[in-house]
Amino acid sequence: MVALILDGTSIARELESGLITRVENLKKKSIITHLVVILVGDDSASEIYVKNKQIMCQRIGIRSTLVNVDDDISQDELERIIDEYNDDDEVHGILVQSPLPEKIDGLKIASKILPRKDVDGFNPINLGRLVQGDIGGIIPCTPLGIIHLLEKTGVSLEGKRATVLGRSRIVGMPLSLLLAMKGVDATVTIVHSRSVGIERICSDSDILISAIGVPNFVKGEWIKEDSIIIDVGISRIEDSGKKSGYNIVGDVEKTANKIAGWITPVPGGVGPMTIIKLMENTVRCSELS
Ligand code: GUN
Repeated sequence: MVALILDGTSIARELESGLITRVENLKKKSIITHLVVILVGDDSASEIYVKNKQIMCQRIGIRSTLVNVDDDISQDELERIIDEYNDDDEVHGILVQSPLPEKIDGLKIASKILPRKDVDGFNPINLGRLVQGDIGGIIPCTPLGIIHLLEKTGVSLEGKRATVLGRSRIVGMPLSLLLAMKGVDATVTIVHSRSVGIERICSDSDILISAIGVPNFVKGEWIKEDSIIIDVGISRIEDSGKKSGYNIVGDVEKTANKIAGWITPVPGGVGPMTIIKLMENTVRCSELS
């Protein structure tokens, strides 16, 4: 059997028209939805992600402002810039692209963004609401996109064994909370760098979500038959046979396609879902303003 493809690009596209209508309705009330993206330094992958976010803003009718600052910016100066946009009533969403330079305290930065403008959902107020099972706050974009993909399969997650590889603040931790939440009701295992018996845990998983960024870490033979595989990883590996000189690969070996029931492609799976959920969060912040 060959796995069914969870095509993030087309699923995200289905959501665009609803967002365009919401942005237009806001415009009728003289509210121009506005997202500010702050990019620190010149990390090439981050530049591409930010560019894609801006392109999507344009498609949906969201005003976007890119603030590009040097990677030697001080913590104080970065916080001052955030404050400026916190105080600006014409700005509805603020996002500081990760990764940040080491000397910048990312937790402090997340705390600085007003919870009602925190389109990433990383402010402790928003994450704290999620921990308490309150989904009325802003929920991080990648986990939201993954839940949407899982819903698309039509498979009930109740009582299913879901394994999340990676315990990041951006993906692994908030996603684990969403999966275990009342109404979703999966039984969640979080696998991390100190876990033992990873192969066996994966082989037992009805749903496997990998967000560790290690190319081909999850082997095809670890996959449970008919399971759902969500691959968040996106890494470049050298490939002299390619014109570009590299290949884009996920965390999960391609051979998983032959065993799983559903699988996300890399690229074109989780990435477009993250961006559309960022747009959704931005529109929501604008509606609530
Ligand atoms: N870097 C990788 N993913 C994300 C994300 O969802 N938000 C931000 N701010 N940075 C990221």
